[in-house]
Amino acid sequence: MPHDRVAKTIGELRALTDKPFNVNFFCHARPKVDAEREERWQGRLSPYYDELGVDRHSASRLDLPPFDDATCTVVEKARPAVVSFHFGLPEPALLARVKAAGCRVMSSATTVAEAIWLEAHGVDVVIAQGYEAGGHRATFLATDFNEAVSSQSGGLALIPQVVDAVRVPVVAAGAIADGRGIAAAFALGAAGVQIGTAYLLCPEAATPPLHRDALGHARPDTTVLTNVLTGRPARVHTNRFVREAGPMSDAVSDFPLPLGVLTPLRAKAEDRGSGAFSPLYAGQGSSLTKEQPAESLTRRLVQEAERRFQQLAS
Ligand SMILES: Cc1cc2nc3c(=O)[nH]c(=O)nc-3n(C[C@H](O)[C@H](O)[C@H](O)COP(=O)(O)O)c2cc1C
Repeated sequence: MPHDRVAKTIGELRALTDKPFNVNFFCHARPKVDAEREERWQGRLSPYYDELGVDRHSASRLDLPPFDDATCTVVEKARPAVVSFHFGLPEPALLARVKAAGCRVMSSATTVAEAIWLEAHGVDVVIAQGYEAGGHRATFLATDFNEAVSSQSGGLALIPQVVDAVRVPVVAAGAIADGRGIAAAFALGAAGVQIGTAYLLCPEAATPPLHRDALGHARPDTTVLTNVLTGRPARVHTNRFVREAGPMSDAVSDFPLPLGVLTPLRAKAEDRGSGAFSPLYAGQGSSLTKEQPAESLTRRLVQEAERRFQQLAS
């Protein structure tokens, strides 16, 4: 979000609750200007523009600002209890300002090296994001993000090794969708869990109908890691574009430029009831997801986990 929308959204949330909350930001590097590469990727998409009757020039160059001075100022004023980052951390001066504002800082690691780096750079909590997780890989230390996909560990391997490597608490993420997953993460040494996909079917979630439909038909093998939707590897429900252009491609332009190029195609396809060009982020636990209000889902997850712990202890 641009910084003014961050401020507005935090204000709206504050009006709804006096409980602590977590705001989350991406810390990506701005895309390199490489007109030739961008042109080539747009060319790759031309047949789809022709097929859907979309004007190729209707796509705008999408440039999402990373966490910057203006957003940091919003955070300093709002002082949310927790600020989490994806794709590493902002530059040290910005991070120091967030910490000086009294916010607890969390960030995701996909390797032990990233977890150690995050601790050394001052995070209060490391999130261990396993291969199974929905959405973007948090990967930030690898020189080749595409290559890092093939070596990324699943949670069963990653969580205990991260727990052994750092002193700060570790939150486990990836395909945790019921009490069994929560109990397993704690058994591996996690101090908490981060759950994404399991909340996508909640009536409170802004998940669009096409995305809900994909989740409703999910199996353990319906998600895939792809970089062709956004320029960085992310786990999504596979669709026509991911299958045909990817799932991984060396030709894709830098994050987040591919998102902008896809937007008109996605809009046209969605108008026709198709998610063929939409990023339907979801983890490998998708088929465990059930439609349930967020509060009762949260209570169920806690009860199931507690039952599991009692069974394991007896
Ligand atoms: C729809 C969706 C959107 C996500 N967006 C973000 C995001 O904006 N920032 C972030 O740090 N992680 C994001 N994630 C990743 C989650 O933080 C977390 O790693 C993941 O949801 C855990 O795996 P699970 O989805 O299998 O539960 C997203 C995940 C999903 C499914």
